Amino acid sequence: MAPERVLSGMRPTGAMHIGHYHGALKNWVRLQDEYPCFFFVADWHALTTAYDEVEIIEKSTWDMLIDWLAAGLDPERSTIFIQSRVIEHAELTLLLGMTTPLGWLERMPTYKDQIAKLSHKDLTTYGFLGYPLMQSADILIYRSHFVPVGEDQVPHIEITREVARRFNHLFGREPGFELKVKAAVAKLGKSDGKTFELLKKRYGEQGDADSLEEGRMLLANAKSLGSADRERLLGTLTGSQRQILVEPAALLTESPKVPGLDGAKMSKSYGNAIGMREEPAVVTKKVRTMPTDPARVRRDDPGDPEKCPVWALHKIYSSVETRDWVVKGCTTAGIGCLDCKQPLIDAILKEQEPIRERAQRYVDQPGLLRDIVDAGCDKARAAAQETMREVRQAMGLAYV
Ligand code: TRP
Ligand code: SF4
Repeated sequence: MAPERVLSGMRPTGAMHIGHYHGALKNWVRLQDEYPCFFFVADWHALTTAYDEVEIIEKSTWDMLIDWLAAGLDPERSTIFIQSRVIEHAELTLLLGMTTPLGWLERMPTYKDQIAKLSHKDLTTYGFLGYPLMQSADILIYRSHFVPVGEDQVPHIEITREVARRFNHLFGREPGFELKVKAAVAKLGKSDGKTFELLKKRYGEQGDADSLEEGRMLLANAKSLGSADRERLLGTLTGSQRQILVEPAALLTESPKVPGLDGAKMSKSYGNAIGMREEPAVVTKKVRTMPTDPARVRRDDPGDPEKCPVWALHKIYSSVETRDWVVKGCTTAGIGCLDCKQPLIDAILKEQEPIRERAQRYVDQPGLLRDIVDAGCDKARAAAQETMREVRQAMGLAYV
């Protein structure tokens, strides 16, 4: 298991569909084998746009969490929690807000896009402008290295890196650093102290690599220095600060875009989705009534799979043999569309059977789910508090 942490979150949108499953959840499940993972419900993020429909947030959160577990997230390996129950996220958001220029937030492509898209809502709020910063806090508070997200979220990871860099630059020094450096230089003795200052200047101003090397040697050989002083002097020599917050990277994994029943993007709001744990009879009916290549009016009209949303699903669900059978049967009118749909229905139902089974446990015993999430919140909180101790100290708020 690699030591780097993976973290990702989703806004609570309720029960998930097979687009979420293939697009994100399957990937999360896979990542559990490789990294320590943190996955959370971004309920505060939901509030940035859904502040006028708060009554749906709680149920959507539980429904979504059931689907995460049903998909195979394993609470033994992944920390599964709810954002608002780790209030340290709010503290870090507030503190990062002190140093984040407004322009960084105003320039986010998602900002103007969403305001235009949700034009029926007033999104000229403080909270909505702060959406990416709150996301930065979500990520930075766990010192996450990798954030599996979709393409649309990449700007949010970018700004997170900038926020971390700025923080480390401004606060990545222990209190009294300058004084301690001065004292350490004095310990080098007059002659070495002078040489060190000179090398530091040369490297700092001219980037002279030899000076850096010489400076390193000087420090390595200075017997009068303890390890803390040596670290400090190395820090001033190279100009690097202490890394309090980790700069994360987006983890963009190729995952299939699952089209909806009508061929458009699958989305609950378009009414073209198949739920992850929908009743088999409903799934069957939905697929059987899917539109097909409009050119296939009669059974003996040949069709073109590329013009058919059913084919798009076959590409995700069917074996090479089945797909060959579809292409041949469709283009020669050898099979009817209902024949073509049957193996797809079978494949979806087969995939959903264990999902539905796992979900049922949590539907029947909501206490089980609550316990898992309670434990996840506790674990997440402990990790968040560890970072916050350092953040507070770095920002002069330790009060010891
Ligand atoms: N903005 C993300 C989305 O809409 C959700 C999110 C909130 C998130 N905080 C996060 C994703 C932190 C990754 C990491 O999908
Ligand atoms: Fe679509 Fe299959 Fe009908 Fe061809 S046979 S039009 S691929 S449903």
